[in-house]
Amino acid sequence: MPQLAVAEEPSMDLPIIDLDVYRSNPLSSSAAQEECARAARALITYGALVLHDSRVSESDNETFLDLLEDYFAQPAETLKRDERPELGYQVGVTLENTEKPKCAVDEPCLDVIERLALAERPLDISGHQPDPKCRFFWRMGEPAPYATQFPGLNAENVIPEVLAIRERWTPVMETWGKSMKSAVSGLAEMAAVGMGLPAETFTDAGRYGPHLLAPTASDLEKYGSKDTILAGFHTDLNFLTIHGRSRYPGLHVWARNTGRRIAVGIPRPKPGQPGSYLLVQAGKQLEHVTGGLVKAGYHEVVVNPSTVNTIAARRRDFSDRPLVRISSTFFWHLNSDYDLSPIPALADQAKAVRAANFDLGRDEGGEVEYEPMKVGQQVQNELKHIALLA
Ligand SMILES: [Fe+2]
Repeated sequence: MPQLAVAEEPSMDLPIIDLDVYRSNPLSSSAAQEECARAARALITYGALVLHDSRVSESDNETFLDLLEDYFAQPAETLKRDERPELGYQVGVTLENTEKPKCAVDEPCLDVIERLALAERPLDISGHQPDPKCRFFWRMGEPAPYATQFPGLNAENVIPEVLAIRERWTPVMETWGKSMKSAVSGLAEMAAVGMGLPAETFTDAGRYGPHLLAPTASDLEKYGSKDTILAGFHTDLNFLTIHGRSRYPGLHVWARNTGRRIAVGIPRPKPGQPGSYLLVQAGKQLEHVTGGLVKAGYHEVVVNPSTVNTIAARRRDFSDRPLVRISSTFFWHLNSDYDLSPIPALADQAKAVRAANFDLGRDEGGEVEYEPMKVGQQVQNELKHIALLA
């Protein structure tokens, strides 16, 4: 097992991991092994990293953002036809003010906020107001060749009804979704290797998982004033989340070992450099399977001063475009029928990291029990918390 405990004070910049180094070198090479160890260390230390993948095209992200801006600029009654509340909103659209930030009523999460220095805390979510964000879930999973115990989490996709959108929809969603999916599953392999496991450990567990391309949309005409919470402080319930660049800043992440709020800026490729940079964050399933060696990363999306400046610039330069903040997000999941339980070697390592952090004065709060359960059960538990499932 590689040495993963990280004792020194981490830098405030998220590490940049290059998927190309892993893909273009033999697995046994020191270049590939070192890059995988860096990926695992980044997830353990920060719960987040920046990933470069030369196969992911910036222009596919732009085409995707254009389509989603046009989609969410439609009237609410048109969007409503694409809602599927009976399926826990796990396909189709979720309109604004439906999803609540779970943290507002969740003890361990309030505890996390309490331990942050005042200046590093998220915007106040204690009112437990639903988020003023809309979202679309587009399934990108491969259908399971067996009967799943959780059919509701694996439902058929909804294709929007309006013709002008409908015609563009599927190819754009599939092209961008496949790019993000191959990037994030590549990183899942790197993380496994970096943790001393066979490369396919996580990707096998994620085969037939209900992966989702999940753009969220915030109407900045309505919700564009400074300090508006677009998505309150929370962690993601899936395994890994990957984001392409949004046109508007506003995403803040809390890196586990820094206790600091980091305003995320995803770098642009240098002139002539192929591919894209993407942000990856750890979710609850990765935390569970590693016994807390990796902790799910807290984040929020708010209107900060840079968002306000970007709103003014886009009003001036793109006055014919809808003023909608789209986040280019993909949720990579483990398979719903997979037995979620900490991998013993990683759970041991988790205890060591926790003890090392404690010795450094980084109290991580009460120890978490990761009870064995099906992934589908874990997802349903989480959805109840955020008011998406009755
Ligand atoms: Fe999130």
